[in-house]
Amino acid sequence: MVDRPKLKLDKSLAMFEEAKALSPGGLMGIRRPYNFVPGEYPIFIEKGYEGHIIDVDGNDYIDMLCAYGPIILGYEEPEINAAVVEQMKSGFCFSLVQPVQNELQKRLTGLIPCAEMAILVKTGSDATGVAVRIARGHTDKSKILRCGYHGWHDWCVENHGGVPKEITDLTMEFPYGDLDALEKALAENKGEVAAIIVTPVGHPLNAPVMAPPPGYLQGVRALADAHKAVLIFDEIRSGFRVAMGGAQERYGVVPDLATFGKALANGYAIGACVGKAEIMKAAEKKVFISSTFFPNSLEMVAAMKCLDILERENVVANIWERGAKFLDRLTTIVAASGVPATVSGIPPMPFLTFDKVDDHYGERRTLFYTETIRRNLFIQPFHHWYIAYRHSDADLAHALNAIGEALEITKKRYPRK
Ligand SMILES: Cc1ncc(COP(=O)(O)O)c(C=O)c1O
Repeated sequence: MVDRPKLKLDKSLAMFEEAKALSPGGLMGIRRPYNFVPGEYPIFIEKGYEGHIIDVDGNDYIDMLCAYGPIILGYEEPEINAAVVEQMKSGFCFSLVQPVQNELQKRLTGLIPCAEMAILVKTGSDATGVAVRIARGHTDKSKILRCGYHGWHDWCVENHGGVPKEITDLTMEFPYGDLDALEKALAENKGEVAAIIVTPVGHPLNAPVMAPPPGYLQGVRALADAHKAVLIFDEIRSGFRVAMGGAQERYGVVPDLATFGKALANGYAIGACVGKAEIMKAAEKKVFISSTFFPNSLEMVAAMKCLDILERENVVANIWERGAKFLDRLTTIVAASGVPATVSGIPPMPFLTFDKVDDHYGERRTLFYTETIRRNLFIQPFHHWYIAYRHSDADLAHALNAIGEALEITKKRYPRK
């Protein structure tokens, strides 16, 4: 096995230099090169098709990051785009709302077990922000126990500049899968916890992705009830992937509120906070929720069409079946390679993390992701991957082949001592 030469990325790198003078850091947050392998990954994308992206230098990749989650079908879905263009002809931004808002809310309440009412927003952070505000309004309590990534707003980003300590002191993080830790946090904040918000499928940063351990979600539900805290499932990654009704449908535990975004409209910007009417009604008079763009209908039309396609093509079953085969093959390849690494995840969300067995684990990870991007597989070292409906069997076979070769090179360069 020979190392592949570096891809030609001249235009991407030049555009990034230009971007640095235009925007702080060139790009915001997770898209900055240090979150990939600097100098090896493209930075600017020209276009996408099916399960692929093409960068500004003309390199074509199989994309298993899927825009960090929204792409559940594929890039440039003609049916969705046609529906959006049709809506454009009537207009989509008004002082009032359009009928599609009712239609989409009806659709969500029909699909998602906890959803008796819905509030449509534009991003995942909007949705979790709405859920937390409603929970605080409903309970008249302030503290939040959280587990997972819930967005960039003040209430859920500790240890960052620009966020007052007085605000983050009200939010406490608990580890996924550990009921004792949650119970302890509730006991330490007795009578003060407005909500427990948890990603039902665990995906801590740069760590294995976990299906809920048996009884875990049931245990979280029971603790929330015992402490009269609102239980929120953050289904922004799991929504429409784990099941059409989210992880709550597949794993059979119904929260009080739930948040959705990402895959809801295959890339169009929309989010939703849904939940039990009794709690959602806090948003009728008690709490304030409003934005100029929340009622814009293009994203709602896109969501309706996306849901049509997901149902018509039985997409969830398809990506679970092919994802399960992918996870199986990945496990075999990783085991055969002898590289100290762990396969994790659930079929629609596979991941590979490198084990901290010696001082080389970081270098192994960097080399692995260098060799996979050089083989035109776009995956991320610190974020799990996704299976999309338009990833063809040939795409997935190519991905596994690239992973096998990259592991072989990694093993040769950094043998386990
Ligand atoms: C579980 C979860 N919640 C909330 C968010 C925030 O969503 P957004 O980035 O659309 O604001 C994300 C985004 O990655 C997420 O994965």
